[in-house]
Amino acid sequence: MRRHQVNGYGFWAIGLHWLIALLILGLIGLGFVMRRTAIDPALQFSLYQWHKSIGLVVLGLAVLRGLIWFVARHPEPVASLGPIERRASLATHVVLALLCLVVPVAGWAVASTTPLNIPTFFFNLVVIPPLPLGRSEAGEDFWSLIHAGTAYLLLALAALHAAAALYHHFIRHDEVLSRMLGREGSISPAAQPRPTRGRKQ
Ligand code: HEM
Ligand code: HEM
Repeated sequence: MRRHQVNGYGFWAIGLHWLIALLILGLIGLGFVMRRTAIDPALQFSLYQWHKSIGLVVLGLAVLRGLIWFVARHPEPVASLGPIERRASLATHVVLALLCLVVPVAGWAVASTTPLNIPTFFFNLVVIPPLPLGRSEAGEDFWSLIHAGTAYLLLALAALHAAAALYHHFIRHDEVLSRMLGREGSISPAAQPRPTRGRKQ
């Protein structure tokens, strides 16, 4: 098992990144279908329960990633990135990581405030207790708005982030995507930082 390295991400960071990304994209599709399409009420109930259970798994994984961020060493930014790109990429990562926490907590708040009082059956194994928030229609509407708004914001930001990763890989030919795929040392010569032609010392 690899830990974070100076130039690359470790096993856990890579595994968590792709697992969380996959689950989130699935949850957004599922959330849209269960909430915004006309489907059979029994199927809708079941989709809501799957959505809530998988969403809580994402919350757990996002907390784990947060803990790893604090204890593990961060890889150095790819050498060919300029200072503005470095700041922009760090800011995007921090916002994405925070949204991975805020979105599921807001979803949990929707389930906790709805006056319908429908329990959350975690994969049909245990009932997840509600958050300590009063049940009311106003509360449910508020948290639904926050949950949906932050979920679609996350989708938009993730799309930009993925486009940036693909741009780095296919246009700039640098290591940005390769190292998140666990392939180190695959930097193309075109992306190597150029030696500056200074005075001979
Ligand atoms: C990262 C995790 C999650 C994502 C990306 C996500 C995404 C979404 C999306 C896109 C919708 C449809 C919003 C709309 O079009 O109005 C939705 C609805 C919903 N989600 Fe999530 N969700 C997540 C986690 C959770 C969790 C953990 C729970 C509860 C424990 C939850 C409960 C709900 C509920 C109850 C709705 C329906 C809201 C309503 O009726 O207005 N979600 N979710
Ligand atoms: C919901 C989807 C996604 C989320 C929430 C997300 C979030 C993140 C976060 C928080 C990081 C910082 C590193 C870490 O994980 O600790 C990161 C890095 C990265 N992500 Fe994503 N990501 C998503 C989807 C994608 C997709 C679809 C791609 C590629 C097509 C991608 C490519 C990358 C790459 C290449 C890095 C490393 C960037 C670098 O080292 O500068 N991500 N992502």
